[in-house]
Amino acid sequence: MTQLSHSEIPNIIIDTDPGIDDCAAILFALGLEKMGLLNLLALTTVAGNVPLDYTQKNARIICDWADRSDVPVYAGAKQPIIKSLITADDVHGNTGLGDAPLHEPKTPLQAQSTISFLIQTLTEAEKNSITLCAIGPLTNIALALKANPECKQGIKELVIMGGSYLNICNITPNAEFNFFVDPIATKIILESELPIRLFPLDVTHKACITTPRMDQLRQLANKNGPRIANLLQSYSRYDIQEFGLEGGPLHDPCTIGYIAQPDLFTAKAVFADIETNHGLMEGAMQVDWNQKLDKKPNVDWFYEVKADAFFELFTQAISKLP
Ligand code: RIB
Ligand code: CA
Repeated sequence: MTQLSHSEIPNIIIDTDPGIDDCAAILFALGLEKMGLLNLLALTTVAGNVPLDYTQKNARIICDWADRSDVPVYAGAKQPIIKSLITADDVHGNTGLGDAPLHEPKTPLQAQSTISFLIQTLTEAEKNSITLCAIGPLTNIALALKANPECKQGIKELVIMGGSYLNICNITPNAEFNFFVDPIATKIILESELPIRLFPLDVTHKACITTPRMDQLRQLANKNGPRIANLLQSYSRYDIQEFGLEGGPLHDPCTIGYIAQPDLFTAKAVFADIETNHGLMEGAMQVDWNQKLDKKPNVDWFYEVKADAFFELFTQAISKLP
């Protein structure tokens, strides 16, 4: 059982499909941990940007990069609950970490499966003591909740990157990648009645790694500043070309920034649902922005970020790493 901090510092588990922006999120969390702003309990991995064989290995490589081979890393679902896996190697490269030179990771893979780890940890944890941060398809979390609903007792809040409503979509004209990969899992989470803080493209597209911000990382006097700048440089090409943005949106790091400093972001409590049927609208979100439906809000939908302050915190956290 991983050590919980009993102070106000958030105890977090990151469920992830690294992925370059996932890598940025994990390094961000490890830097914030050095600043005493959160306590990272474990990384659980899921197939998404690239297949699970890569996402679990990448999570371990990223821990090595931060000299943190003590971080427990678990392997989870190889594919979505119903659909076949679709990946985003056009954005993240075939390995999931761009063209970064990769080594055989020192950080071990835990023998326990992710689902078993989540069930054990969340059912044994103090009530509402763990923040689950989901930055890939929601398959692992949905399967754990379905297998043992008692998991809910340990969850303080679910902080999720996914979806889109007020913003153009990125995998089909109507859907965002994480939610499109596993819409069934997403629906299970939306109907879970857990506290959900949702970071859709509406807000992540306002947190782009522009050239000046990239240069700040590159000038850090450590290895991980220049490393993440190079990774984000290759990652940005897709979104600059596809959406004409000033740089790649830091989707996944937005969730970590919220956990450490919630006042960087603005949300609205809304009722949100997802289309799970196969077809044109598969993975599309319905968001009751102006309370037209007689439905209780089920998510905090984030749509604004103090971008300069967010990047200041991000750069400060990365500067704490080797
Ligand atoms: O749509 C963006 C999301 O899909 C991010 O989590 C990115 O890593 C990919 O998983
Ligand atoms: Ca991700």
